Amino acid sequence: MSDKAARLEAIAEEIRAHVPCGVAICEQATNLVPGEGDPDAEVVFVGEAPGASEDRQGRPFVGAAGKLLDELLAEAGLAREEVFITNVVKARPPRNRDPRADEVAHHWPWLEAQLDVIRPKVVVPLGRHAMARFVEGVTITEAHGRPVHETAKGRTVVPWYHPAAAIYNRRLRDTLAEDARALAALLRRR
Ligand code: URA
Repeated sequence: MSDKAARLEAIAEEIRAHVPCGVAICEQATNLVPGEGDPDAEVVFVGEAPGASEDRQGRPFVGAAGKLLDELLAEAGLAREEVFITNVVKARPPRNRDPRADEVAHHWPWLEAQLDVIRPKVVVPLGRHAMARFVEGVTITEAHGRPVHETAKGRTVVPWYHPAAAIYNRRLRDTLAEDARALAALLRRR
């Protein structure tokens, strides 16, 4: 196992063994979901929080939103095995409600640690909750598909709409597909 893979696995182990911590969403989860993928990924996708399928399986984006994410990855010329996929919040909020700010704050250090190990060229936050801490003061409608260069971190952040929002929305799906093709072009230019 490479050094990066071992460091990511150590973070994943810490997440899986996290409870009890006194925070309800962590303690109510069937499984906390650390995320998975290539430790040398150029692109990291950051969702909001696990849903029911992810909570059951302990893996990110394995339900309906994951199926659409897989199609978008293909549109971007990326295989699931070559990217890293995780979430801002690693535990499923009850009834899939939005994660609260205190819950995001509780889980955020894990995402930072994962990004510090992987050092991706591009981070793609999925949806407004994932975007909020990366790109502040804009709506997802304004920010989606627009690269923001974080010079200090040596990476580019490109928010997308959340795939779950596009499952029953053809127009949003077309927008996501356009943003996926733009990501493919961005990766070719780098
Ligand atoms: N939605 C998310 O934001 N993350 C997942 O892992 C699954 C669905």
